[in-house]
Order: sequence, then C-alpha cells, then structure tokens
Amino acid sequence: MTSRTGKKLRSQEWFDNPDDPGMTALYLERYLNYGLTREELQSGKPIIGIAQTGSDLSPCNRHHVELAKRVRAGIIAAGGIPFEFPCHPIQETGKRPTASLDRNLAYLSLVEVLYGYPIDGVVLTIGCDKTTPALLMAAATVNIPAIALSVGPMLNGWHRGERTGSGTVVWKSRERLSAGEIDYDEFMEIVSSSAPSVGYCNTMGTATTMNSLAEALGMQLPSAAAIPAPYRERGQISYETGRRIVEMVHEDLKPSDIMTREAFENAIVVNSAIGGSTNAPIHLNAVARHLGVKLDNDDWQALGHKIPLLVNLQPAGEYLGEDFCRAGGVPAVVMELMKADLLPHPDAITANGKSIGENCRDTENLNPDVIRGADAPLKEHAGFINLKGNLFDSAIMKTSVISEEFRERYLSNPDDPEAFEGKAAVFDGPEDYHRRIDDPAEAIDENTILVMRGAGPIGYPGAAEVVNMQPPDYLIRKGVHSLPCIGDGRQSGTSGSPSILNASPEAAAMGGLALLRNGDRIRIDLARGEANILVSDEELAARRRALEEEGGYAYPAHQTPWQEIQRGMVDQLSEGMVLKPAVKYQHVAQT
Ligand code: FES
Ligand code: MG
Repeated sequence: MTSRTGKKLRSQEWFDNPDDPGMTALYLERYLNYGLTREELQSGKPIIGIAQTGSDLSPCNRHHVELAKRVRAGIIAAGGIPFEFPCHPIQETGKRPTASLDRNLAYLSLVEVLYGYPIDGVVLTIGCDKTTPALLMAAATVNIPAIALSVGPMLNGWHRGERTGSGTVVWKSRERLSAGEIDYDEFMEIVSSSAPSVGYCNTMGTATTMNSLAEALGMQLPSAAAIPAPYRERGQISYETGRRIVEMVHEDLKPSDIMTREAFENAIVVNSAIGGSTNAPIHLNAVARHLGVKLDNDDWQALGHKIPLLVNLQPAGEYLGEDFCRAGGVPAVVMELMKADLLPHPDAITANGKSIGENCRDTENLNPDVIRGADAPLKEHAGFINLKGNLFDSAIMKTSVISEEFRERYLSNPDDPEAFEGKAAVFDGPEDYHRRIDDPAEAIDENTILVMRGAGPIGYPGAAEVVNMQPPDYLIRKGVHSLPCIGDGRQSGTSGSPSILNASPEAAAMGGLALLRNGDRIRIDLARGEANILVSDEELAARRRALEEEGGYAYPAHQTPWQEIQRGMVDQLSEGMVLKPAVKYQHVAQT
C-alpha cells in the first residue's frame, strides 16, 4: 500500500517487504510484543515518531509527556501509528557546564533515530531553548515530513502584584541583592515566583523566541507557539498537530519544502518584531546550514535591523507569555507586519499546507498594547547589527536594548554619536570574571569595557551565556548599572543588556579577542558596524606569533568525551556552531 502521492512509505521497507521475508519478520515481530498487530504495521498506515524531549530532568519540556497523549490521539484519529521515543535531555537551567554543549549531541542522536528506524513522519516536541534548534536541525538533515509542537510557556509569574518574568527577574533582583535592598531568602522567593506552572520561560527569552520562530518558519500550526502550557488549547493543538503530521506524510510535505530561504527571511523579520533573543541567529543559521540554505549574520542585519519592535514582552517590554497569547500570538504579529508590508514572503508555505499569509492575514490583534501596530511600535530598528573589525569577523548586537543611561554615558558625543572608546578589562571565562570583578585593584570604572573571552563553542565548551557581565558592586552602588560588554560567548535571551556577543572567531580559535590585553583601548562604532582594538597591526601580528609559539589561547581541559569530540569539529557561533562534518549530510532519508 502506498501513500496518496503514490510513494511507498519508508516504514514499509522495514515492516512489509515481500522480497526479504526474513528481515521483515525480524523487524515486525518485536513491535508486536506490546500489542501492535500485523494488520496495523502492514496496512500502509504512516508510522509517526513523537520525538519526546520531556522528562524529569527537563522541567521546561516535561509537560510534553502529558501532551503526547493528545498527539497520539490525533495521529490515530488520522490513521497513523504513533511511536514515541526519548530525546537526549537539554535543560537550559540544569546542565553543566552549559546546555548548549548538548544541542549538537541531541541533534546527532535524533538524526540517527529518524534515519535508522521505520519512521515516516515526526512530531518535534520543542520548548526549552536548545531543544527547538536541536530538533529542527535533525529534521532538516533527515528531511522526512516533520511538524513542531511547542510545550508552551509557563503562566505569568507574579510577586506582590507585579509580573515576574523568567530570567529577567533574576538579573533585576541580583542587582537589588548586590545593592543590599533584598536578602538571600527574598531573592530566592522573588525568582521562584516567576515559575508558577509547567512550561518554558514566560519572557521573550530564547525559548519564546525559538518557539515563535518555529511557527514563523512554518514548522508549527498557526497559533501553536504562544498558548501557555497549562491551557486547554495547548492539549487541543497537540491533537491537531498529531492529525496534521499524518496528512503531511501523505502529502510528502518535507522540511525542505517549508524551511526555504524565503521562510528564513520571514523568520528574521518576525524575530525583530517580537524582540527575539540574540541566540536566534546562531540557531537559525544552524538549521539553514543543515538544509543547504545560505544564511549568515549579514542577512540578519540587512533584513532584520530596520524592523520595529512590536511585542511588548519582558525583557524589552512589560508583559509575559499569557498576555502574548491572549493578544493573538505569532499570527497577530505576522498580521501587523503584513499590514505594514514588512513581511517579505507572505506566500511561504507552512505545515498546514497553507501560506503564512493565508494563515495570518485575518487574525485580530486583541490587545494593541501587548502587540503593537507598526505605526506605534515600542522601538524602531529592533533587529541586530553585525559588527566586524580586528577584534572579530562577526559579532551580534541588539541595539534596541541600549538603555537611556547607557546612551547618555557612551553615545552622546555630538560629533560621533554612535561611537565610543574604553579600556578593556579582559576576563578569561566566567570564573575569572567572578574572581576579579569586585577587586578594586582592577580599577574598573565608567570608561571600562568588560571583555569575556574563552566562552565560545571551543573555549567553554558549547559557548556559555556569560557575556552580559554586571559591573563591580561599587559601581552599581554609584548608580552605574551597566558597562559595555563584549565577548565570544552568548547571552541569555532573558537579559536586556546591550552586549556585543557571539564574537567569531572566538579566542580559542585564535580570533582577535585572543590578542587583547588588559588595558588596551577598544573602539566601537555602531554606525559603521566596527569594533577594533586600537593597537597597530604590527603589534597585533607580534602578539599573535608569540601566542602561537606558546601553543595558542589556553582553555580548560575536556571533562567528558563529548566535550573533546565536539571541540574537535565545532564551527563558530556566526556559522551556527554546527558540527562541521555533519553539514554535508543532507536529505539523508532519501539516500
Ligand atoms: Fe527552559 Fe527558559 S530555561 S525555557
Ligand atoms: Mg539561555
């Protein structure tokens, strides 16, 4: 029996191959042992994988364990057979040294599962930061029909009548703790209030960003990103997602049909409009590379920087995930962008078989304070700029989060309003930063630029979210709440700091940051997109030679086999931090 397109289902090579009864029997018999029947496995019903990312170790995604029951019901109702299986857990807040070390590991293992088992289509249970790109990357490489399903954000957090947002409340309260305004117990209580239910971060951090972008890319059903995890609509859309993937298998609608260059361009624009995380370029560039779609950080600036910020969610704004959902979620954002003619490709096809334009055009914006129109945005130019210079070839900065205080202190020279200089305080990894930051001997003042290196994909390893560094306590007490930060690591999407981050190549790959010395002057020119060490080329060349003779920039020893394996083959953040040898494997289900 074949699918409606006349194509034989790939699962039939396992379960119904009359040319090889021996192997067919072997493949078949064990799947019968828990009650499946031969009739089910040999009648040409699509086998649908449910790539399960929820577990006790991954609380952000744990609710997928419940939602999978609704996904299964949908799959069965549409005539498919569900096969649920576990994915390698990636808990952003639980994994040492950093969850992003495991994105590529989860990717690799899911590629093997999707390729090596009788799976015709797959539901990707996404949510916590790195789970979304890991699963999309694997679906891209294997290229069997795939649909993503968000677990949904947590309910809004509240503390004494104020919204407390995931992550954002940590940065804010940590400053209050430093300033002596609250004590240790109050700090824990306030931070805990931001996590009132199952689900992922309720702020516009990396999770809400990546889940929204999975919808903007067309890989989720319309509205599937924003529904909070505990809402009944979350269970209902899980059911619809299960139904739809069976149809997608019959239609042979694959990731490469949906995640085209046009879809990525739409996603970049949506990312600016939602105030998305600086982790988005890393992850989307990675998904694109696994599909063979050309995408780089210049595209992010060219397409995204001019787009206004429409979504009023913390950390850039006031509200949280429930408010975003009630206002209309991603479809309402897309509708507002289309109204202003800012969505580049309304015709891009999505998982439900319709275009993003058809899906979103008639959506109502139910709360114009939460989702603004393009004529009344929260900010203009909400996207990223891509800085270059002798410090690095590429680093991302979200200029829209530059505070008034910061702008006045650093960007108020009337002759040169977008440029500033400072002396570098250089830290080799987060431990070095914590050891030295409050030491008065470091003489850190308002004119210092904090530099974090050794925090990239090789250095840390996996690239730590440590670039947004707090000034020394003594400066905070003087009212200096942020210093310019530069680094080859990442920054949490829940942080509003205007850091220059994801610098590539990193120090550990002998990028310019490796040559920087404490006290060197750095000049940043935002208008020209430049970041330079103000040291002569000759001096930098001499430093490079000396460092190479010492064996290069030193970073900590490997702690696990995977750290060593990944360090040997990982690409830089600007290139998506992918495993370089993996990129050439494309459309592997067709091989
Ligand atoms: Fe998992 Fe934010 S920590 S979504
Ligand atoms: Mg994070």
